Amino acid sequence: MLTVSADPIERELEVSLRPRTLDEFVGQEELKEHLRIVLEAAAGRNEPAGHLLLSGPPGLGKTSLAHVVANEMGAHLRQTSGPALERAGDLAAILTNLEDGDVLFIDEIHRLPRTVEEVLYPAMEDFQLDLVIGKGPSANTIRLDLPRFTLVGATTRAGLITGPLRSRFELGEKLDHYPVADLEQIVARSAVILEVKTDEAGSYEIARRSRGTPRVANRLLRRVRDYAQVRAEGIIDSEIARRALEVFKVDERGLDKVDAAILDALIMKFGGGPVGVSTLAVAVGEEPDTIEDVYEPFLMQLGFIRRTPRGRVATELAFQHLNLPRPGARLFDA
Ligand SMILES: Nc1ncnc2c1ncn2[C@@H]1O[C@H](COP(=O)(O)OP(=O)(O)O)[C@@H](O)[C@H]1O
Ligand SMILES: [Mg+2]
Repeated sequence: MLTVSADPIERELEVSLRPRTLDEFVGQEELKEHLRIVLEAAAGRNEPAGHLLLSGPPGLGKTSLAHVVANEMGAHLRQTSGPALERAGDLAAILTNLEDGDVLFIDEIHRLPRTVEEVLYPAMEDFQLDLVIGKGPSANTIRLDLPRFTLVGATTRAGLITGPLRSRFELGEKLDHYPVADLEQIVARSAVILEVKTDEAGSYEIARRSRGTPRVANRLLRRVRDYAQVRAEGIIDSEIARRALEVFKVDERGLDKVDAAILDALIMKFGGGPVGVSTLAVAVGEEPDTIEDVYEPFLMQLGFIRRTPRGRVATELAFQHLNLPRPGARLFDA
């Protein structure tokens, strides 16, 4: 019941918390610098910016950046997604309805059907659309000119983007998990928008449990706000934040259920590894690709797992985190 009703509200809040400009977008300095250069250069030439591919785990700001790009260009954003474009005609309809300078955002672009993807190639390269008229031997292809647009593609699965599609993007940027200092800033910014009072220590408590992910930081802030409203009054300090997050059973380091399941399987089932990703995936009931693209980067960033040629290995830190001694069999480890 809670999950059903919470969803649209959470989504709405997400929209209101979304950064609108590059300056509001916290962190990812290198990426922002690239974008500033590309956007300014394009504006100077009076052209739409080159196509941009954003990749990285969920909740790190890909959709937000698509909006930021449109905003900074003073352009309209048209939004669709790979799975929504079932036929070539679906994409053709969108492309022919674009206006000059528009930003077209295709989320989950790795899920575009192949036939649809092929429509994109000439559209991205030459702003042209090849339409097939008629069927069989009398079929004809005609070329239509399209408005000049900027494609922003987003994907959690950069590895699944085909070579031909990838090569048509001018800029490919990877978003990484955020350091705690950035997440503190994001929490502080969101707190102002949500009109909740937090102090620095309170923001820090939330930030360090946010799984390196702005979306999670905002979600935890809302949980803490709820708690503070009902169980405490006034400002969210470290004590309130800690108590609230304990109530909601948020892990000290921000691990979510799947992160925890991966560590648990790695250590309890496979004695700390090494174990192959696909075996690990089966053990926790996730796709191997999801493990590699979404979970592993975060666990590696925390220093909980290592990649070795023979598979994944739990580190000393992971054993410590689960309060487990390293098994004696590993004494001979280098
Ligand atoms: N760099 C950032 N600075 C501030 N807020 C951010 C940033 N990145 C993401 N967010 C917040 O996290 C939420 C989720 O980001 P979103 O762009 O939807 O992620 P993605 O599309 O990668 O899943 C946004 O609504 C926004 O409030
Ligand atoms: Mg998104």
